[in-house]
This record gives sequence, structure tokens and C-alpha cells, in this order.
Amino acid sequence: MPPQNIYILGIESSCDDTAAAVLHNGRILSNVVATQEIHQKYGGVVPELASRAHQQNIVPVIHEALSRAGISKNELSAIAFTRGPGLMGSLLVGTSFAKSLSLGLKIPLLDVNHMQAHILAHFIEEAEFEKPQFPFLALTISGGHTQIVKVSNYFEMEVIGETLDDAVGEAFDKSAKILGLPYPGGPLVDKYAQKGNPKAFPFPKPKVEGLNFSFSGLKTSILYFIQKQLKEDPKFIEENIEDICASIQHTIIGILMDKLKKTVKQTGIKQIAIAGGVSANSGIRQTLKEAEAKYHWKTFVPKFEYTTDNAAMIAIAGHYKFISEDFADMGVTAKARIKM
Ligand code: KG4
Ligand code: ZN
Repeated sequence: MPPQNIYILGIESSCDDTAAAVLHNGRILSNVVATQEIHQKYGGVVPELASRAHQQNIVPVIHEALSRAGISKNELSAIAFTRGPGLMGSLLVGTSFAKSLSLGLKIPLLDVNHMQAHILAHFIEEAEFEKPQFPFLALTISGGHTQIVKVSNYFEMEVIGETLDDAVGEAFDKSAKILGLPYPGGPLVDKYAQKGNPKAFPFPKPKVEGLNFSFSGLKTSILYFIQKQLKEDPKFIEENIEDICASIQHTIIGILMDKLKKTVKQTGIKQIAIAGGVSANSGIRQTLKEAEAKYHWKTFVPKFEYTTDNAAMIAIAGHYKFISEDFADMGVTAKARIKM
């Protein structure tokens, strides 16, 4: 029988956010994220700089998470960490730290799959948030992934559709870059899109078989479109930024919704949860809520702070592993590529 008071420290360092969170019986006591600003000037994440920044941030971030939670490290039941997928140099920092801490405190170690954790964020105890029931479909949309996952249980997940090239977050970020917006451009496209006309500039949707996605063609057609317009009017972007962003966002959401509708038809599952950084997008959130009435779906949108990379989601995944006593041993290593 697991103890009644389960305190899990979650550690996330897969990409460019160093994060730590403390969970008590599935409820958040603290959730700290240090975002690395350094990558902005390079227009994308620089792996070597990311791992160096993780090394600088990890101790203060964990310290802050414990202090905000109001507990001492000796009260922790276990340490959960992101094993992968992600950038190797970044993952190594969190993995090594988690192993040392678990060894020093003599408490269990829990290895967590980052993509599963994005989905399991829906199981963090939150007063106003209902949890999905198994089985449900998860649309994981982040800077590195775009997947449709059939979730049969906490750790029983099957990828039934995925992108063949760029992830949806990349589609947002690369489109933003074409428009001269800083990295990561997704949130900025979202911001401008809210004031624009989504039908101002129609972009073609790719034709991809089955439940898979493709976003690289969209990026190319946006690039050609913008280049052509700029030749005629050098001020085209600044004068139309809201309509351009709204049109790009509308096309991306259309691509996602088409595949979701197809998946519901094939599987008969009408419960849909979204996860990952792009699930912060206001257009996607609104479209999914509208789909509840339109298609009789039940949709689950995560609390804003659990959308982009965070350690609360790592801690909740660890919580369920702890309950089922699915511990990692000290030989566990970081894995840049890891299956669902
Ligand atoms: O999950 P995440 O934090 O990191 C990865 O694991 O990739 O996702 C980051 C991605 C970036 O591409 C960022 O531009 C995108 O999520 N993103 C958004 C929004 N907020 C973050 N994309 C569109 N609209 C947003 N509001
Ligand atoms: Zn992520």
C-alpha cells in the first residue's frame, strides 16, 4: 500500500525550460519554470546553450519549488524526471540531478516520458477541471510533436496519427519567422490572429492519407505568398499582420480539426483532450469548445500553466507510477528518442 501522503518532486529539462514542481496527492503545491531567454536572439533553441542554462538553473529552480511548497526535501516520497524525448544535453542535466537526489535522499526514482506527461497533465487535481475518462483521444501539439493518441489507461497510450514532417508548433514558429516575428512566434501569431479576419488569405491544406499530418507545405506556401506580396507592396506584412496571422492560424486549426473528425469517426471515441504547448492557442481552445455542441464531443482543455513545458505534468505522471510502484533503477539513462 502506498503511503497516504504522497509528495512527488517533478523535474523537467527536455528542451529550453528548466522546471520543478511539488505535488501532494496529485494536487499542486508549487510549479516553477525558468524559461531560457537566451535562445530568442538565435531564432530557435541552441542545444549547447540550453544544457548550460539548465546546469545554472536547476538548483535554484528546485530550491524555489520546495520553498514555495513549504516542505523540506526530507518529506518527499519520490523524484520524477523527464527521461525523454528531448535534447540529449538538456535531458542529461535533469536525469543526473534526479538520480543523485534520489540516491542522496534514499527515495524512489520515477522516469517519465515527456509526451505521456503532457497528456497526464489532465489528471492534476484542479477544482474546476474535470478529468477525461478512459478511453479518450489526445491531440498532442507542441514544438516537437503532433500526434493523435488513443489513451486507454495512464500508461497505455497508442499513437494512431502523427506528423510526417514539421510539428504544429514549428508551423506556427516558422510562419512567424517569415513574418519577422521573434522566436517562439506561436503566441504572437495567436495574439495578432485574435484581431484579424481568418478568411482574408486562403492557404491550401495538405492532402495526407489516414490520420497523419504534414505542415511543411504550408510553411512553403506562406513563404511564397509573402515574398510575392512584398514585391508589390513592401509594407504588406505590417499593414496586414492581423489578417495574415488569423489566416495562418485558421488553416492550421482546419488541418487539425479535419483529422480529429476522421479519428472520432474511425474509433467511435468522442472524448478529446488537447495537450502540449500549442494547446495554449486561443483559436484551438475556442474551436474545440464549439465542437462540443456541433459534434457532441466532450473536450478537455488543460489549465493554461500546464500547456507549455512544465514539471507539474512530470510530477503527476510520477504520482501514478509511484502508486503502481513502477520505479526506475539507478542504471536508467536519458533517451533523446523514446516511444509513447
Ligand atoms: O510543449 P512546448 O512548450 O515545448 C515542446 O515540447 O515543444 O511547446 C512549445 C511550442 C512552440 O512552438 C510555441 O510557439 C507553441 O508551443 N505555442 C503556441 C502558443 N503558445 C505556445 N502556438 C500557438 N499559439 C499559442 N498561444
Ligand atoms: Zn513539451
